[in-house]
Amino acid sequence: MWQRKLQETLAKLVDSERGILAADESIETVGQRFKLQGIDNTEERRREYRELLFSTPNVGRYLSGVIMFEETLEQHDANGTKLVDVVRKQGMVPGVKVDLGKGPLTGSPGDMISYGLDGLAERLEKYQQQGACFAKWRSVYNITEHNPTSLALSANAEVLARYAAECQAAGMVPIVEPEVLIDGNHSIHEAARVSEQVLHSVFHALHLHGVALEYVMLKPSMVTAGKAQGRSNPEEVAQATLTCLRRTVPAAVPSINFLSGGQSPEEATANINALNQSRPRPPWLLNLSFARALQEPALRIWGGERQNRERAQAVFLERARLNSLALRGEYTEQMESG
Ligand code: 13P
Repeated sequence: MWQRKLQETLAKLVDSERGILAADESIETVGQRFKLQGIDNTEERRREYRELLFSTPNVGRYLSGVIMFEETLEQHDANGTKLVDVVRKQGMVPGVKVDLGKGPLTGSPGDMISYGLDGLAERLEKYQQQGACFAKWRSVYNITEHNPTSLALSANAEVLARYAAECQAAGMVPIVEPEVLIDGNHSIHEAARVSEQVLHSVFHALHLHGVALEYVMLKPSMVTAGKAQGRSNPEEVAQATLTCLRRTVPAAVPSINFLSGGQSPEEATANINALNQSRPRPPWLLNLSFARALQEPALRIWGGERQNRERAQAVFLERARLNSLALRGEYTEQMESG
């Protein structure tokens, strides 16, 4: 039965002290990250980098799962072990990003729509054969004076819900990622208003499509002011985020795993910590699924050089450890210097 399979995956993936690593950057996005460090964006470099992350000794203590890019599912480590198996051996669950990127939403200037529903069922079957147990789909929402429009809200909610329904039917846990972008000069109140509209529309669509919320994970943005306004205070972020989530996310959802969305690693960890210190406790776990905020310091140290591999792994492990402390509300910024 599909529920049993989803429950088995969730039992390994949903964890109050371990986050999920997003290492599912598309070839183009990896290229942007590599370019900043002067690393060539070749398949071999991407493979080496992902091997470095997944094989970091003991990283499974702090991470329960990894979202991979489809190319990575077929890659092997230097000893010929599939990277999916390297992930599994660490006690982490392999997953895969299944949207095929995004483009302009026709009829709604400034808004985007994500691609990839056509042929999704066949791809999900292939990814499962390759070892993936869960999936992720990202939709993005810009905040401007005119965006997101009501068309953008309903169109993106619809694709997220159709994706989630297909995943559940295929026995894969869907991570539903409606990302409200941090870019811009908007206030935290404006971000809260838009996030509430976004999540409301997404859960309405999930309901219409018969998606069982007990077997869904939500990956939202934290509610913060736009990047141009500078860093928001963690307590303010936690309060605005929880108010928004309580108004929109049913208690049936087991875990909310925030993206980092361009926050610095320290900022993202401090915000996760504040969220987990908030009382009363909300009905869902408040967890994380970061890409940049987990990877950035390690990527910088690696720089594409073999001799930096171990130091990069140590830094990656430390970031994962600090985030695990934040999941318990036990992180302080003084821990950073160590
Ligand atoms: P960031 O944590 O870098 O926002 O990435 C999360 C993610 O999976 C984006 O799709």
